[in-house]
Amino acid sequence: MSDNPLANKHQAWSALFSEPMSELVQRYTASVGFDRRLAHADIEGSLAHAEMLHAQGILGAQDLADIGRGMAQIRAEIDAGRFEWKLELEDVHLNIEARLTALVGDAGKRLHTGRSRNDQVATDVRLWLRGECDRLAALLAQMQAALVELAGAHTETVMPGFTHLQVAQPVSFAHHLLAYVEMFARDAERLADLRRRVNRLPLGAAALAGTSWPLDRERVARTLGFDELCHNSLDAVSDRDFALEFAAFASICMVHVSRLAEEIVLWMSQSLGFVDLADRYCTGSSIMPQKRNPDVAELARGKTGRVVGHLMALLTLMKGQPLAYNKDNQEDKEPLFDSVDTLADTLRILAEMVGGMRVQAAAMERAALRGYATATDLADYLARKGVPFRDAHETVAAAVKAAIARGVDLAALTLAELQGFDARIGADVFEVLTLRGSMNARALVGGTAPAQVRAQIERHRARLAAA
Ligand code: ARG
Repeated sequence: MSDNPLANKHQAWSALFSEPMSELVQRYTASVGFDRRLAHADIEGSLAHAEMLHAQGILGAQDLADIGRGMAQIRAEIDAGRFEWKLELEDVHLNIEARLTALVGDAGKRLHTGRSRNDQVATDVRLWLRGECDRLAALLAQMQAALVELAGAHTETVMPGFTHLQVAQPVSFAHHLLAYVEMFARDAERLADLRRRVNRLPLGAAALAGTSWPLDRERVARTLGFDELCHNSLDAVSDRDFALEFAAFASICMVHVSRLAEEIVLWMSQSLGFVDLADRYCTGSSIMPQKRNPDVAELARGKTGRVVGHLMALLTLMKGQPLAYNKDNQEDKEPLFDSVDTLADTLRILAEMVGGMRVQAAAMERAALRGYATATDLADYLARKGVPFRDAHETVAAAVKAAIARGVDLAALTLAELQGFDARIGADVFEVLTLRGSMNARALVGGTAPAQVRAQIERHRARLAAA
């Protein structure tokens, strides 16, 4: 027997073993069912390694050409769905290597010189994840653009701003939407930042200690577009904190998605009626004929649970691992894959849904009028007339109580009635008691005044266009 993975159908590694793996152990330890997703990254990494081996005089020109030809065929087979993945070959790496050897012979067996599956898999995951980071960055930009564009049409649309889900102060719908743009912009920053740490090359660490072969790691890094090398071989094969960072980013981003989804569900309920969603994002009920349910938003909220769960899984996976590589690390893939897929699908569908949302401005304004949203403005008005703010707060509470008793808004009280609470109140008070007066007054940076919100929209547009 030899260490050729093809030599023995039951054992992919060496002649040391005297009995085949049980079928159960084979199934338990194999990862090819899911890590085949890394196939393209694996081939790209192998080609860069082979090219470098040749440049270093370790691999002959013919061997390099054979490897290139074999890999091109393997790629084509995989893309066409014709590649025969074998469970007994355990993972994506051994499957591709075995096929390569079958196609081109000894060159395939020379490819693994100076390399281990430990630095190979770490390289593959990083290469793959880097590509996904870029795809997600584009989706995050789309999500932000959809919100910014909707906001552009609603700088004058008044809605109740809530704290404790109680009407607090009037805000524009645009201002509310831009709060989410800020969240997603920070998510994009986090993603760009963690990508720098994903984009480091483990190859050359070999199994754990480095290799005696005179490899040119910088050359491989350049070929594969890595910004830096991993500088400690033990760390290179065992570190998965780049995956933890990604999962943390994905979790935070999904939490933002989930909050927006929850608001959409609330806004669409009959009791608020702030927005309506296009039918294509809703489902009906099999028993209640009148129902249109915001399933997409609810699922976005629900799927947040699995992504947060993946972060917990990865943290737990790492916490007890001694240096260096342990097979535990094979378990990093499914949580990562599912986090990427869930986040990507959710961002895509939510951006679309937001873009098609019908806004019921009149319902928003009615709701803002119901909750004494301008009470703070009356207190500020009194404070500007010299009343200490705490006293003004008390006076306005009494005025609100009187308005509630009569079932009217503050602005519906007469000047004489208002002056009954404080004689310093003048006829100019009615400007601050309107929803728009309240909004316009908050014109400082970050406030809800339309002019300020329009400036923020322009800032976001310029930022997104430059990205
Ligand atoms: N399938 C393995 C993984 O995903 C590849 C590395 C295996 N290395 C080893 N020495 N068994 O982690």
